[in-house]
Amino acid sequence: MKKHTLAEFISEEELRAKVVELGKSINEAYAGKELLIVGVLKGSFIFMADLVRELHEPKVETAFMTVSSYRGASTKSSGSVQLVCDIDRPLKDTHVLIVEDIIDSGYTINYLSDVIKVREPDSVGVCALLDKPSRRIKDFQADFIGFEIPDKFVVGYGLDYDGKYRNLKNISIVKFDGVEE
Ligand code: IMP
Ligand code: MG
Repeated sequence: MKKHTLAEFISEEELRAKVVELGKSINEAYAGKELLIVGVLKGSFIFMADLVRELHEPKVETAFMTVSSYRGASTKSSGSVQLVCDIDRPLKDTHVLIVEDIIDSGYTINYLSDVIKVREPDSVGVCALLDKPSRRIKDFQADFIGFEIPDKFVVGYGLDYDGKYRNLKNISIVKFDGVEE
């Protein structure tokens, strides 16, 4: 872990307001439908917990998948995504909404949506709290996006640096020796 400091980037209040807004959009989009929310662990666990409590209309079920795409303390994707833990139910005749913390290179979300599509669900949508479009290597457009952010490495509200800082209530930029990465 390189020497670093943190600087607040998105406050707890801004996160709260955005989650309410995303919840409204999802309620409208899936009105009257049964929905399976698939959280991508570990990064999405706090976002997902807040988001599902804003979903009033549809009959909502939840499931989780665990993937890993990072190596050690690197802040860049290794490009190879591994499915560490799968969903424990079939997806046929189900509307699936994947909930991700952040879309960066796009490797993870492309991999996951492919894995889910071959199981023939009724639909596959993606809701990402954060999106870094400038870093995209594999093209992907999410259906619901919280914040579009610049090319900075961020932590908190579920996101980590080398396993740390997931518990922060806000989202902060990691500055390495005073420089943002
Ligand atoms: P991608 O495969 O490069 O799109 O990366 C997606 C995954 O990388 C996310 O689900 C996060 O777990 C992680 N990630 C990407 N950018 C950041 C960041 O700025 N902070 C923390 N984790 C990140
Ligand atoms: Mg993740």
